[in-house]
This record gives sequence, C-alpha cells and structure tokens, in this order.
Amino acid sequence: MNFNVLIIGNGNLQETVRSFVPSRNGEVKLSVADSDIAAFESLNAVAPHMVVVDFESSRLNTIKFLNDLQHRGQQRDMIVVARNPSIEHAVKCIRLGARDFIQLPQDSHRLKDSVEDIYAQWRKSQSSAALHSDQRDRFNPSNIIGECRQMQHVGQIIQKIVSRRWVTVLIRGETGTGKEVIARAIHYLTAKQANNPFVEVNCTAIPETLLESELFGHKKGAFTDAKENKKGLIELAQGGSLFLDEIGDMSLTLQAKLLKMIEEKQFRRLGSTDSVTVETRIIAGTNVDINQRIEDGLFRRDLYYRLNVVTVHLPPLRERGTDILLLAEYFLEKYAGEYEAPVRKLSPEAKKLLMHYPWPGNVRELQNTIERIILLGDDDEIDHHEVMAAIDTQRDLERSQPSQSKRTIEIPDKGISLKEGEKRIIREVLKLAKGNRSNAAQILGISRPRLKRKIDEYQIR
Ligand SMILES: Nc1ncnc2c1ncn2[C@@H]1O[C@H](COP(=O)(O)OP(=O)(O)OP(=O)(O)O)[C@@H](O)[C@H]1O
Ligand SMILES: [Mg+2]
Repeated sequence: MNFNVLIIGNGNLQETVRSFVPSRNGEVKLSVADSDIAAFESLNAVAPHMVVVDFESSRLNTIKFLNDLQHRGQQRDMIVVARNPSIEHAVKCIRLGARDFIQLPQDSHRLKDSVEDIYAQWRKSQSSAALHSDQRDRFNPSNIIGECRQMQHVGQIIQKIVSRRWVTVLIRGETGTGKEVIARAIHYLTAKQANNPFVEVNCTAIPETLLESELFGHKKGAFTDAKENKKGLIELAQGGSLFLDEIGDMSLTLQAKLLKMIEEKQFRRLGSTDSVTVETRIIAGTNVDINQRIEDGLFRRDLYYRLNVVTVHLPPLRERGTDILLLAEYFLEKYAGEYEAPVRKLSPEAKKLLMHYPWPGNVRELQNTIERIILLGDDDEIDHHEVMAAIDTQRDLERSQPSQSKRTIEIPDKGISLKEGEKRIIREVLKLAKGNRSNAAQILGISRPRLKRKIDEYQIR
C-alpha cells in the first residue's frame, strides 16, 4: 500500500514536500495537479492520504476548491501553504476543513511537522489493517460453533446483513452469548467493509462526559484538555463498522446525538461548526432488556427503531441443546492445542452434567470451564466430578471478580530483582485466590505443579 500525496500547485512545492516525507521502500507516491479539474481527477484516481495546496497557485481558487471538496464529502488531511497569507484566508481555509494553514518559507518547520504527523497516522492505520486480516481469521464464521435451530436462524440473518452494506444491526443476548463474536463476523464478512476499521466502543466502560468526545471527536480548544483537533471513533470507523456495545446504558443526551448522526450520516466534532460526513455500519449490542428501558423512559424509542432495522437475537446457551457438547468439544480441542495437552474425552455423566447445568455465564462460562479442566487435569477421561469442580471454582472466581479489588506489589526505590518480583506476585495472587492453588495457578497462567515448585523455591507460606 502506498502513501499517496497530492500536491496542488507548482513544482517547487513538490520538492519541499518530498524532502519531508520519510520515503521508505518507495511507498510514498507523489502526484501533482495544477488546476481544480486536474485535482478532482487525481482525487478520484489516486485517493490521496494527504493533500497539500498552494494557496497562491495561479490556476486554482483555493477557497472555492475547499468548498467543493466539502460539498462532495471528499475531505482529506489537507495542508494549505501560502507565501503572503491574510488572516482572513487562513481562517476561511481552516473553516473549510484544512488541517493547517502554513506560511512559507518562515514556517516550513511546521509544514514538516504536519506532513510527518499525517504520515505517522497513516502508518499506524496500515499496521492496524494488517491486524485486521489476522482478526478476520479469528472471526472466521467457521469458528462460530452452533447447529441448533436458533443459531441456524442467526446464520441466515447474518448472510442477509452482510449483503447490505450499511444496514444497522442490533444484537441482543445475555452476557457471554457471543455478541461481540457476531458483530465482528458481520464486519469481516461484509466484503466492502472488511478492509476498513472495526471500531468497538463499550458505552458503560467510558464515563459519559468522555464518551461524547471519544465518539464525536473535538476541535482544538473545545474544552480545557482539548489541546489538538481529534477525530472521534465514529470518524475512525469510516467505511467500516462501529460496534456500540452495551448501548442500553448510553445516556439520553448522547442517544439524541447518535440518532441525529445516524439519520444525517453527518455530525460535528465538539466545539466545531463544520459537519463531517461518515458512512459506517452501526452495530449495537445489548444484554439489558431494551424494551424495559424504553418503558422506563431511559432509552429513546426512535433510536431503538433506527438501530433495530435488523435484530440478531442470541439465545442463552442453556437453550441451545446439543450445541453445548459441540462447543465443549471444540474448546477441549482448542485448549489442548494451546496448552500442548492431550485432547480428552468426556464421560457420559460429564456430558449429562454439561447439558443440564444452566450456564448463567453462557458460552464464556463454558469456555473458561473447559480451559480450566485442560489446564489443571490429567489425561484420563473427564468425569462429572471434574466438570462440577471446574464449574464451581469458575463461579467462585466470577463472584469474586466484580469487586475489582486492585492489588499492588511494592517496588522499593532501589528496585528489586525479577525473582523477588515474581515471589511478590505469587504471594499476592495466592491471597487473591484465598490460598486455593488451582485458582492461583490459573490466574498466573501456569500449571499447578509449576506453581508448587515456585512456592517451595521461594518458601512462600
Ligand atoms: N458460537 C460460538 N462459537 C465459539 N465461540 C464462541 C461462540 N459464542 C461465543 N464464543 C466465545 O465466548 C466468549 C464470549 O463471547 P462474546 O465476548 O462475544 O460475548 P458477549 O455476548 O459479547 O458477552 P458480554 O455481554 O459479556 O460482553 C468469547 O471468548 C467467544 O470467543
Ligand atoms: Mg461483549
């Protein structure tokens, strides 16, 4: 992939800009346009990542050009340079979406900074694109296990969704039923979105005031900490998907802004008067009863209708019949591979237990239970006692987690050796696991015998 730069103006500018882009393996491609017609042609042909415009270029009216760009929704990272600028022109250009307005030659260091920033951002997005192709394998639908009637229905709905590029989707289901897996599958299966970003936002994890600027971005100076212009997550999801997880917990004010953005495909960064156009697939996830929240006046009905164009309802694991065993066997194989352990078989009683247990934590709970069995067990057939023990400890662990008690280990000013650090970590984790060595081993990601050796070595009591 090339970093495409379009220069609008004359040849001198080309030399200056070229000297600023760190040209590696010829990945930087410069093209030049000297009129607005040529500029629009290049914009369509090479889709530049950065545009540098010479304000005084004789064959182009820069203000008009920026205006047209804005109307066509073709804004890019754009820098305008001028030799004899007026404040008025500078203000106009920035209003029309230019990232910087720079006077040459005196401020050429600023041009250098700007060019380098845009280039660095591009490189970052490239490496996340590479990550995306890994992700695509991970969320390959063949890794989504389920043959029961409800899951087949889910599969059919997904097939329909992925052929309709921007349709919004609401994914409902209890915790651990696979909402995120499905959201990612939808993204990576939609051919035209798959190479664009999948951006995930957990609406409960971010405090409300922050969530707004995270989502919509802000203009420099919009509030005290807004030191730079910043793109919001919505903008970063351009062309791809925005997964709004736990949407049921979003505040009413933000719901209103979100609705407007979905309807108009446009929004403004905080503190800005300019609209940004975005096209992205909105996927919303929720494990709360949205209808109840509407009844309680906590969720906007109109937003609900907007999001709910298609609903994917993920059934709880306890209603998926023999899928439970399919999943258990899938995870047995998966973790045996990961921990280089033998693939073990389930005894008939163990299967019965798996089928009858209600799985309040759904697929995630089953997955963790099987991981625990593989990690801590031997290589015999898995009987129901072993399954029960694993379920019990898993439940205990989950129950102790919501308290989110933080544990710290102290490091004195003179520092400590790695061994001493390890000793302290083990001691704290043992406290966390209330002395239960199996749980402690699981938290530490090591086997129980290995933990025992370390406890002996460090003489931890
Ligand atoms: N059908 C499935 N096949 C294989 N693995 C699954 C399936 N469904 C869920 N999982 C696994 O179960 C775990 C939980 O899934 P996920 O995070 O998507 O659940 P969720 O519904 O988003 O949960 P929460 O509401 O707690 O956020 C993940 O590790 C996921 O890989
Ligand atoms: Mg989730």
